[in-house]
Parts: sequence; structure tokens; C-alpha cells
Amino acid sequence: MARMLYSATMSLDGFIAGPGGDMSWLTDYLGPNPVADELVPRIGALLIGHRTFTGDDPNRGTDAEGAFGGTWSGPQVVLTHATDRPAVPDVTFLDDFDAAVAAAKAAAGERYVNILGADVARQCLQAGVLDEILVFVAPVLLGDGVRLLDWPGGTTARLERLSVSEVPLAVGLWFRVLS
Ligand SMILES: NC(=O)c1ccc[n+]([C@@H]2O[C@H](COP(=O)([O-])OP(=O)(O)OC[C@H]3O[C@@H](n4cnc5c(N)ncnc54)[C@H](OP(=O)(O)O)[C@@H]3O)[C@@H](O)[C@H]2O)c1
Repeated sequence: MARMLYSATMSLDGFIAGPGGDMSWLTDYLGPNPVADELVPRIGALLIGHRTFTGDDPNRGTDAEGAFGGTWSGPQVVLTHATDRPAVPDVTFLDDFDAAVAAAKAAAGERYVNILGADVARQCLQAGVLDEILVFVAPVLLGDGVRLLDWPGGTTARLERLSVSEVPLAVGLWFRVLS
């Protein structure tokens, strides 16, 4: 059964994107990352929020464009209200959260569903289907932007630390969600 993993690179003050979804800051922290390299073949599908799907990619226009610096390819499920749009290879557009999670899990098989997008990750946490969180903490303070998880009125979720790793341009923190 696929596990649901939310992974992101985050500023020390807790943002995964700057104001308006700005991702230009990430360019300075896109160095070698052996933890991500090992993760990529363990990902069977992506569950992506529409703002991430249509948003900034610091590698746009280069060979490294796309998820994980262009090193991952496979089935992608995009949550969006705009499902009546031109088809994109490997991409399924869905407007129902439960159906999107089920489709991503079915596509992932025994591998991870990797979640991209804070809003979708928050819904997974809220629905109790988020299994793990991997954040690469970059040495920068963004001050404002899109938070890793923004859940006004949310409840406590306890985490178990699975690993701490140093990669050249960040610190990797991997957790299991307990409750
Ligand atoms: N630093 C990193 O590693 C990293 C990784 C990934 C993403 N990001 C950045 O994070 C930002 C995006 O995160 P985000 O939290 O703003 O948005 P998001 O999760 O990517 O997307 C949210 C959007 O997805 C659609 N959606 C979500 N749930 C839905 C549902 N249940 N039914 C139908 N549609 C649904 C809605 O779009 P519509 O109403 O328009 O359809 C919603 O506005 C971007 O700037 C992205 O570049 C950073």
C-alpha cells in the first residue's frame, strides 16, 4: 500500500514559496542532494496542487525542469477545480480530494505518493492520510509567503523523527506522522 509523503524545501522561517508563489529563492539551494536522489526511485506517483502545477519552476526552460530537478517522471494527479482543460501526458486532473488520493495511491503501487503543494498537504494531514513529511531546511529566511502547513484552528499532530541528514545546501528532516 502506498504511503503518502509530503516533501518540500523550506526556509528556516517555515516558507516553501515566497510571496505570490515566488520560487526564485530556491535557485541558490539547488545543489547535490543524495537524500532526494535516493527518494526519487521510491516515488510511484505525485499528488499535486494546482498552484504548484501551474506555478514557478526555478529550472523552467532547462533540462532540470519538473519535479525533483527533472529526475522523476510518472503518473501525476493534479487537484484542481479546472478539470476541463487540455490533456497533459501522465497527468490526471481531478476535483475531488478523496478520488485524487485514491487515484494517486493506485498509481503509486507499493511506492510513495509524493505530495507537492502546501494546501494539498494540509488537506492530507486534516483527512488523516498523511504518513510522512520530509523537509529540507535551507539556510534562508523568506519573511513571508506560502507556509509549509497552514491550518488555522488546526489540531496538534505528533511526529516521530525518522532521520536527520546533512546535504550540502540544506538539512534534511524526515518524520512519520503519528496522529
Ligand atoms: N519549496 C518547495 O519544495 C515547493 C514544493 C512544491 C510547491 N512549492 C510552491 O508552493 C506553492 C503552492 O502551494 P499552495 O499551498 O499555494 O497550493 P497548492 O497546494 O499547490 O495548490 C492549491 C490549489 O489546488 C487546487 N485544489 C486544492 N485542493 C483541491 C480540492 N480538494 N479540489 C479541487 N481543487 C483543489 C486549488 O486550485 P484551483 O481552484 O485553481 O483549481 C487550490 O487553490 C507554489 O508557489 C509552489 O511553487 C514549493
